[in-house]
Amino acid sequence: MEQLDSEVPLAPPIHTVAVLYNLKKGIAAKAPDAEAEYDKIDTVHAIRDALESGGLSVTLLEADEGLPGLISHERPDIAFNIAEGLSGRGREGQVPSLLSMLGIPFTGSDATTLCIALDKALTKRVLWTHRVRTPHYEVVEPGKTRLTKALSFPVIVKPNCEGSSKGIGAVSIAEDRKALSEILRRNHELYEGEMLVEEYVEGREFTVGILGNFASARVFPPMEIVFRQPTEGAHTVYSYPVKQDYTRYVRYECPANLTEEQTREITDMARRAFNALNCRDFARVDFRMGADGKMYFIEINPLPGLAPGYSDYPMLAQFSGVGYRELVRGVLDAAAKRLGRSVDWREL
Ligand SMILES: Nc1ncnc2c1ncn2[C@@H]1O[C@H](COP(=O)(O)OP(=O)(O)O)[C@@H](O)[C@H]1O
Ligand SMILES: [Mg+2]
Repeated sequence: MEQLDSEVPLAPPIHTVAVLYNLKKGIAAKAPDAEAEYDKIDTVHAIRDALESGGLSVTLLEADEGLPGLISHERPDIAFNIAEGLSGRGREGQVPSLLSMLGIPFTGSDATTLCIALDKALTKRVLWTHRVRTPHYEVVEPGKTRLTKALSFPVIVKPNCEGSSKGIGAVSIAEDRKALSEILRRNHELYEGEMLVEEYVEGREFTVGILGNFASARVFPPMEIVFRQPTEGAHTVYSYPVKQDYTRYVRYECPANLTEEQTREITDMARRAFNALNCRDFARVDFRMGADGKMYFIEINPLPGLAPGYSDYPMLAQFSGVGYRELVRGVLDAAAKRLGRSVDWREL
């Protein structure tokens, strides 16, 4: 007998949400930016407020060693994951892996995507096969200070598996091989793991935000990070110190002043990068424009910062009229839709 629609068990709307995060702890470390990727409690509270004001029941959980026990007990309808993980190359995959193991759905990309995206060189290799233009590069192992490939100088040096401009400090651009060796020696002392040496793209900088999935993914108009002054020699780098004091060094222009064709190119590249890496729900993609006028992919952030009034992603959404609450709820809605669920929004 044919089953009636009403007999198909429907998953109830999402009502309980656990926000999972790792907080800055203020622990002293060798590098000044050691905790750059972690969140402040204000960000966690802003996410909670956005969800609670929509009538959802929200719990906050620090994603540390105690999380497995707490989350198995809590069993929320969904987890809103902004946790960067504790340590190691695959740290951003730790929380999504745990949630997948426990069968708890979550917002954002899964462990595989987050781990690949955290490895900048691996991401570039994947995107190369998808014909996404990205600067030439070489990965340099710990302890090594020389290139084996013929890259064009200047080059920029970044820890290969870091985010939030960690390791992109006051001096990260090398004009020649000698300067490069010195930067590599210093960075190997301060940061663990491989260094990515990449041809420096001298030109305008843009970032593109995506919200949603598949055909219904919304790509926000590109935002330009306009430098008010050089930040390193004659060059510009959106580095950790610059981000800390951003009003002094940069202003933001959104939508960026680009031709229709340039906007189409950058939007299309962002979408292709998002899809090639199987990103989910939201992400931010960074680009530079070369002297040839072409766009170069720099990196993708499938777990972009959500600090209100500071992070680029909420800022570029705001420029498109999507306020903080709407954005946070949009991420949850995107996840719910992907899961074939709905969210129990009740405006309070
Ligand atoms: N190849 C490059 N050419 C020019 N600038 C670059 C390049 N790579 C990085 N940068 C500069 O350094 C900043 C941080 O690098 P990025 O790869 O986005 O790392 P993070 O994860 O720290 O944001 C960029 O926003 C950009 O200003
Ligand atoms: Mg970046």
